[in-house]
Amino acid sequence: KQSTVIAPSILSANFARLGDEVEAVLEAGADWVHFDVMDNHYVPNLTIGPMVCEALRKHGIEAPIDVHLMVEPVDELVPQFADAGASVISFHPEASRHVDRTLQLIHDHGCQAGLVLNPATPVEVLDWTLEQLDLVLLMSVNPGFGGQSFIPYVLNKVREVRGRIDALGRDIRLEVDGGVKVQNIGDVAAAGADTFVAGSAIFGADDYTATIKAMKQNADG
Ligand code: DX5
Ligand code: ZN
Repeated sequence: KQSTVIAPSILSANFARLGDEVEAVLEAGADWVHFDVMDNHYVPNLTIGPMVCEALRKHGIEAPIDVHLMVEPVDELVPQFADAGASVISFHPEASRHVDRTLQLIHDHGCQAGLVLNPATPVEVLDWTLEQLDLVLLMSVNPGFGGQSFIPYVLNKVREVRGRIDALGRDIRLEVDGGVKVQNIGDVAAAGADTFVAGSAIFGADDYTATIKAMKQNADG
């Protein structure tokens, strides 16, 4: 398992002050910026695209930007996000007609590639893809909205995917997204995750530093 990464989801930030909000969570100890892209087609919500990613880079944000594509189709946005400064690009396999091609496209554009499994998506989707991945993102809520509750059975899925990554023996990050809080991050880490998305738990807190510190402490046991 790799070092703990906390990735605040800017979906829960104040969009009117986005640059300041991202700076604030990074100063507060966050490692990555989690960037939720929703298209009102794959998911019933509409958020932000490559222009906002590029604006954050131009604003001086240097931390890894972890782009979570909840869009269908996927391929057209890959070069756009790579050009906009994305570090990791993850997508939902059912939203791409040719998953291997999309993974190659992400790598060809110099980004790390991730697959996102919804709560009910079988882990078998990793059978012929895991070796092509830099990251597996397990959704612990149904995608589309921040502020939902963690679905407990996903802990079993985290254990199962941790076993597959360990068996392969490659450095693949295992990220969990949805309903992660100070109170439950220890359980998610114990199940095998190393990378944690948190939106409402961080941006809804008064003290970002204390919240991120508590998350790291609990994740590291
Ligand atoms: C949901 C998004 C999540 C969400 C997490 O579709 O992918 O990243 O913003 O928000 P919380 O932490 O509030 O569940
Ligand atoms: Zn997300």
